[in-house]
This record gives sequence, structure tokens and C-alpha cells, in this order.
Amino acid sequence: MKLTSAELPYGKNNNHNNNSQQPSSSIFLRSSSKTLILVTLTLIILTVVPLYYPLHKFPSTTTTTTSSGGGDATVAPVVYHPQDEVISINDNHHKCDVFSGEWVPNPDAPYYDNLTCWAIHEHQNCQKYGRPDSEFMKWRWKPDGCDLPIFNPYQFLEIVRDKSLAFVGDSVGRNQMQSLICMLSRVEYPIDRSITTDENFKRWYYVSYNFTLATFWSPFLVKAQLAESDGPTHTGLFNIYLDEFDEKWTTQIDEFDHLIINAGHWFWRPALYYVNRQVVGCRFCQLENITDYPMTFGYRKAIRTAFKAINSRDKFKGVTILRTFAPMHFEGGTWNEGGDCVRKMPFKSNEITLEGVNLELYMTQIEEYRKAEKMGKKKGLKYRLLDTTQAMLLRPDGHPSRYGHWPNENVTLYNDCVHWCLPGPIDTWSDFLLHMLKMEGLRSAEEKSHSRGYRTNSRVLKQKIWNEI
Ligand SMILES: *[C@@H]1O[C@H](CO)[C@@H](O)[C@H](O)[C@H]1NC(C)=O
Ligand SMILES: *[C@@H]1O[C@H](CO)[C@@H](O)[C@H](O)[C@H]1NC(C)=O
Ligand SMILES: *[C@@H]1O[C@H](CO)[C@@H](O)[C@H](O)[C@H]1NC(C)=O
Ligand SMILES: *[C@@H]1O[C@H](CO)[C@@H](O)[C@H](O)[C@H]1NC(C)=O
Repeated sequence: MKLTSAELPYGKNNNHNNNSQQPSSSIFLRSSSKTLILVTLTLIILTVVPLYYPLHKFPSTTTTTTSSGGGDATVAPVVYHPQDEVISINDNHHKCDVFSGEWVPNPDAPYYDNLTCWAIHEHQNCQKYGRPDSEFMKWRWKPDGCDLPIFNPYQFLEIVRDKSLAFVGDSVGRNQMQSLICMLSRVEYPIDRSITTDENFKRWYYVSYNFTLATFWSPFLVKAQLAESDGPTHTGLFNIYLDEFDEKWTTQIDEFDHLIINAGHWFWRPALYYVNRQVVGCRFCQLENITDYPMTFGYRKAIRTAFKAINSRDKFKGVTILRTFAPMHFEGGTWNEGGDCVRKMPFKSNEITLEGVNLELYMTQIEEYRKAEKMGKKKGLKYRLLDTTQAMLLRPDGHPSRYGHWPNENVTLYNDCVHWCLPGPIDTWSDFLLHMLKMEGLRSAEEKSHSRGYRTNSRVLKQKIWNEI
């Protein structure tokens, strides 16, 4: 089987040798401790009550199989504690940057394998293709200064009940969605409600929770087309219309409560950049009369246009989450020149620094995100960062490498150091996402309580909550 062009990353070497300071990436969450206890209690009431009996409620859809997958990894059985469901976020979390931390051992992981979860993409099914080690599955993310709870599928599904979430971007976004489906598979599998047969535009529906999960393929986030299938690096030359919306997704988002936007790897590819339908430059097109720009030139404009598209939808009321760039880890060469990712362990945060193109891409994202957030605020739209860059920088061990296909297969991407094995470190993105949804709940409850002037009747409400507990 050949990797489709959709699978192809753009290889460049990462140097992993510096021991300097990490660029710190934080979401500062404001704390308002007065309302917090009240809000927390409200959330407990809102979310715990229906959560006590999910296993009994949906016995037919609950996966109870636990079987042994590849390597010596076994899937942790479902251990269900009602107290897990209590959303208790203490003040600390308001100050804690959950995206800054270290990987620590987690003997309980993984929480699914290729036998219990059917959603694993062929080229990320590392167990199937003989990856011998399983250590890479057995880590969890430990933020400095607080804890990030392991993903609780019951709690997640309860929070997203009657809601919808869409992934917009490239195959790493799809990688995340499949990881999420696998993490949720202990509770329920979605049914396929896709409205097209195009595998790049899937819609999954969780019947018991009325929750829709969708994916929109848009690796450049803006309108683009393949101009030439070969091109200077034999990976195609693209026309990217940096100021034009990719309507395949921009016209479809209105109904979604959450959008998770991602892009990056495709901007390595040779491309002609268009603005106003005029060529304004290119990236590695090797055409003499066209200015060659670094990839961030196109990347910045494309992200800006994508955010502009979101902010211009009158009916869209959802939360836009930018999932920041997940660095690739080719070492010893580029993707097509023998580069590989053979490490078996995560880095410690003092062993590697975000730098070079990875840093540029990340900074570009953050800068454009900040602008979009400001613009969105005027329209009442919320923006959030799913800031995975630092955590993933530390995981050179989590890629398929040569275990994304059979050894004799002639694939374009020889060693895949871009995508992430499932199960694997990308499962942690669901931990982050659940945390963010909880914080979202807290924040909107806080906002409501402020706007409704809860101060005056908070005692009454508190009393009510205690009575119900
Ligand atoms: C799952 O992985 C095992 C190796 O651990 C492999 O033999 C099997 O074919 C895989 N099954 C699927 C459905 O991917
Ligand atoms: C399912 O959720 C949608 C919103 O995503 C809502 O409009 C609809 O009423 C819900 N359906 C049921 C049966 O609750
Ligand atoms: C660049 O030159 C080639 C021929 O050398 C021509 O076909 C092409 O249209 C030119 N592109 C631009 C943007 O002027
Ligand atoms: C692998 O595929 C490429 C491009 O499709 C082709 O040029 C090459 O000859 C193939 N190599 C082998 C060993 O089949």
C-alpha cells in the first residue's frame, strides 16, 4: 500500500542538541476564587448526577474486551469510579499552565489497543506492523505545578452531550480524532453519519450522547490545488490561494460548538503563493522569476485567512481551538534521505529546545492566534489554545518510524516521524481537551454568575446545591 500524498510530511532535520531554556507557552487563566467553589459545585451537580450509571445504561455499546495487543502492552481494564466524574478544579489549575511539564511513567497505559479499537489508521497501527517495544505507550503528561487527570471517557461524553466538535486541518488532525475515538471506545463507538464518501470528510455520531464528531480535510486551511503532481521534490507543486477561504470547511462550521484547527506540515511542500489570484511568491518552486519565501510566509497568511473565515461567519457561535504544531523528529537525515526516529524514550524538558523552523511555525501560530482572538472577541467568539507543541517536542519515540507499513512496501514516506502511533503520546491530547472543556464550563459558569449578579442570591444557590448533594 502506498501512502497517499495526504500522508506526506516535509522532512527537515530537527537538531536535538541544545540545552537551553524552553520558550514558555502558556494560557493564563484568570482565577476568581470567590465564585469558584460555587461554580465547581454547580458543575458537580450538572454533570455528576447523570454519570453514576453509564455502564448500566449502555451495556450494548460498552466495550468490555481487554486483550493483549502488540509488544507486551496490555490494555488497562475499565476502572470506573463515580468520584472520577466530579469535576473538581482547584484554584491551582487557574494558575497552572497544563501545557508545560514533563512525561512521567504511567504503568496503566494504554487504554485501548488495535484489537479493541477499530479506528486506528492503517499507517499509525504500529503494533500491527511489528513495532517491538511498548514503552512509548506508557507515559502520561505531568504539568509543572498541577496534575492533568487521565482522560475519562464518561466525563468527556457527558460534557459534550448534545454538542458537536469538528477537526479542520491535515492528517495529524485526523490522527487526533482517531485517538479520541479510541479513547472513547471504552464507552461507546460512534456510527458513521458521513454525508460524503470522501474519507477526508467524516462525520461520526455518538447515539447515546447526541454528540457529533467531524473531520474536514484542509491541509493548507485555505483554498489550494495541486498544480503539478511531481514538482521540485517529487511531492507535488501546489497553488495556494492565501487570501481565499477553503469553502469545503468554512461553509460547514456554523453548527459546530467546537472547532479544532491545525495545520503546518504541508507548508514544507513546494508551492506557488497567490494573493488576489496573482502569484506573489513561492516556497521552493525553483522558478527563476518568482521570489522564494520561507514557509512561514505562506503559513502566516493562510492561518490568518482561516481565522478571518471563522470570524466572518455570522451564525458560527462555537469555540475555536488552535491545536499548535506538533514537531516531527527526523534524525540523521531528511524524510527522504534516510532520516528516522528510533528513540525509545521521551526527552526530559531540559534535553531539547524548540528551535529553528519548529519554533518559527509555533511563533507564527501564536501571533496569528492572538490577533484572531482579539478580532473574535469583538464578535463574542471564543478562541483557545490546545498547546501541544512542547509536550510533543519531547516525544521522538512516539512516531511510527518504519512500523507504519510492511517492510517490503514501497511507500513515499519511508520512515514516518510526523504522525503518531496509536495508542501513543497523541492520546494525551484528549487529556488536554477534556481539561479545556472543563475549564470552559467553569469559565462560562463564572461569566454567567457575574452577568446575572449571583452575588445577591449566591447563598440561596449554595444552599440549594448542598441540599441536592
Ligand atoms: C493488531 O496487532 C497485532 C500484533 O500485536 C497484529 O498481529 C494484528 O494483525 C493487528 N490487528 C489489527 C486488526 O490491526
Ligand atoms: C442533539 O443535539 C443538537 C445540537 O447538537 C440539538 O439541536 C438536538 O436537539 C439534540 N437532539 C436531541 C434528541 O436531544
Ligand atoms: C515566469 O516565467 C515563466 C517562463 O520562464 C512563465 O511561464 C511564467 O508565467 C512566469 N511567471 C510569472 C509569475 O511571471
Ligand atoms: C517505488 O515507487 C516509485 C514511485 O512510484 C518508483 O519510481 C520506484 O521504482 C518504486 N521502487 C520499487 C523498488 O518498486
